[in-house]
Amino acid sequence: MFSFPVELRYEGRARFLSPLLPSSRGFAPSSLPAFFNPASKLSRDLAVLFLKAYFEDGKITLCEPLAGTGVRSIRIILETGLVDYALANDISKNAYELIKVNAKLNNVEDKLEASNLDANELLASRGRGKPRFNYVDVDPAGSPARFMENGFRGCGRNSILGATATDLSALTGSKPLSCLRKYDSHPVKTPFLKEVAIRVLAGFMVRTAARIGLAAEPVFAFLKDYYTRVFVKVSPGIDRAKKILKQIGWICYCPRCLALYTYRVNDVPVSSCTRCLSPLLSAGPLWLGKLFSEEIVRKMLEHAYGGLDIYREAASLLEYMLNEDTSLIGYYPVNTISSILKVNPVKPRIIVDKLRDRGYRASLTHLDYSAFKTDAPPEIIKDVFLSLSSM
Ligand SMILES: C[S@@+](CC[C@H](N)C(=O)[O-])C[C@H]1O[C@@H](n2cnc3c(N)ncnc32)[C@H](O)[C@@H]1O
Ligand SMILES: [Zn+2]
Repeated sequence: MFSFPVELRYEGRARFLSPLLPSSRGFAPSSLPAFFNPASKLSRDLAVLFLKAYFEDGKITLCEPLAGTGVRSIRIILETGLVDYALANDISKNAYELIKVNAKLNNVEDKLEASNLDANELLASRGRGKPRFNYVDVDPAGSPARFMENGFRGCGRNSILGATATDLSALTGSKPLSCLRKYDSHPVKTPFLKEVAIRVLAGFMVRTAARIGLAAEPVFAFLKDYYTRVFVKVSPGIDRAKKILKQIGWICYCPRCLALYTYRVNDVPVSSCTRCLSPLLSAGPLWLGKLFSEEIVRKMLEHAYGGLDIYREAASLLEYMLNEDTSLIGYYPVNTISSILKVNPVKPRIIVDKLRDRGYRASLTHLDYSAFKTDAPPEIIKDVFLSLSSM
């Protein structure tokens, strides 16, 4: 039936055919006859949990323009119970054939349609007599940038667009020109580079939506291993779009004294450190608003605990996120501070408690388990480290 060897796999409630995966670890999923990456299971788990938490009992339509085997759409249908209609598309003929067979294998042919188009062609044609979707999941290998504007064109009123980026070298500042080319943003290498990555992607999504008169507001975002994902709520309206754009800005970092500054589009830019007068490194434009709310994370966790055993990995990440304050910008890995001060590293949890004891805001972050976030100035952070190391 297929011109390449396939195997039956199980993930969540789905059973599906994928190309036969090489037994060697570290194979490139994009070199397979059709794309499948078992390591992206957590990304699929979190998409399921997010949609359950966000849409609750409503009925939705979804579009997965870059679907590979179709496992993501099938899992969303089977595990959320929310989907009336799903369109899973892939430009690869092999992937398209797999999606059709996998829909049958899971008895969801009545809900899942397969198509074999270029993602941009598919998405750009929506709205002209063809209904838009409540959820669009843009999940490419690499950057989602070239699908973003049409991704938003595929979004209906009050919908969600979720996008993955795996090009972390561009987003974290290792390849600044690639970031400028794809995301119109300039990242810099800082100790909190993963947060720069997630905020550059979120900011790019907000700005791309605004360009076509849509307001996109980040409602859930995370970064794990080799990829980051941002989910935005999409609603029409130029005024609303402009209001959200006020949360676009720059993060400035002082490499000498570690101070952090931010300024937004309407603020006066900051260029040198008010503490030590050193020139600052600036990353942006990027999103400076919240990346997720405690409410959405709590709801996702409830679904994770009340659901399948396989959500355990998602639950442990969500537990971490539950106490993360994403209105605090940036983070400090404990090793960065301890090597500057030439003292032994201290557990981030202890630093967070001590900073709170002194009246500052502080939290852990899922972006780096060895780091903490805070609004305390560098001299207070250093003082806390020194007092702990002398104990
Ligand atoms: C990362 S994979 C998708 C994985 C899938 N979403 C999942 O969760 O398993 C990206 C897919 O996009 C497809 N693709 C690449 N360029 C495309 C394009 N221009 N239009 C449609 N599909 C495309 C590839 O064939 C590949 O199957
Ligand atoms: Zn400084």
